[in-house]
Amino acid sequence: MTSIRPMVAGNWKMNGTTAALREPRLLAGMLRDVKLKCDVMICPPATLIRRAKSVMKGSKIKLGGQDCHAAVSGAHTGDISADMLKDAGATSVIVGHSERRTNHKETDAQVAAKAQAAHKAGLTAIICIGETLDERKGGKTLEVLTGQIKGSIPAGSTASNTVVAYEPVWAIGTGLTPTTKEVEEAHAHIRAELAKVMGEEGAGTRILYGGSVKPSNAAELMGVANVNGALVGGASLKAVDFIGIIKAYL
Ligand code: 13P
Repeated sequence: MTSIRPMVAGNWKMNGTTAALREPRLLAGMLRDVKLKCDVMICPPATLIRRAKSVMKGSKIKLGGQDCHAAVSGAHTGDISADMLKDAGATSVIVGHSERRTNHKETDAQVAAKAQAAHKAGLTAIICIGETLDERKGGKTLEVLTGQIKGSIPAGSTASNTVVAYEPVWAIGTGLTPTTKEVEEAHAHIRAELAKVMGEEGAGTRILYGGSVKPSNAAELMGVANVNGALVGGASLKAVDFIGIIKAYL
């Protein structure tokens, strides 16, 4: 059995201006003398990456972007390339979050192209997948995950340049979470499907759970087989809540 170093990543979504940098500064202080057993990452809005890097100087906390364009540069007003995120101080980028898939109609093929752009820029791609409530109710969860894995994970993905985040759409921001049995079933399925698209690399690839992770449920969720960390939304905005989740690995 491969030993996988877990990751706890915070997705701030469209939240935070300069004043919010107080939180990562606090978090960096809280983690200063802690021997971390997991990677810790914050994905703030792109406008804050560079300043977040400077307020957390010397800390072990990594930074990530929330999306990137598939192209290196060009006439794409308002978009940000993977190279730009890297230049700002990011080491990773989330791609294919369900909010992008829904709000911007992103397809699996576009997500795969973004992940590939991230890899080319030297960033780790955190590729998000997950079923809607209707799909779960219709017994289609595993089928949907298979399709998203086949379509969204590009050739050249390895355990070091790729992280998969399982985020059931109905659990995001709702306070609802799947049962541990449902999480275990989904993650086991993802692990098996990763072997098909990534070969041996699939066994060492981190599979994060995301969707209403809080300090009160983190230890239970992180204890499930094949759960190698968390992708956290709301509870990553405040250092006290985020550390409560990171504690699952201390
Ligand atoms: P919440 O933790 O707020 O449910 O959000 C999860 C998420 O979408 C992380 O990417």
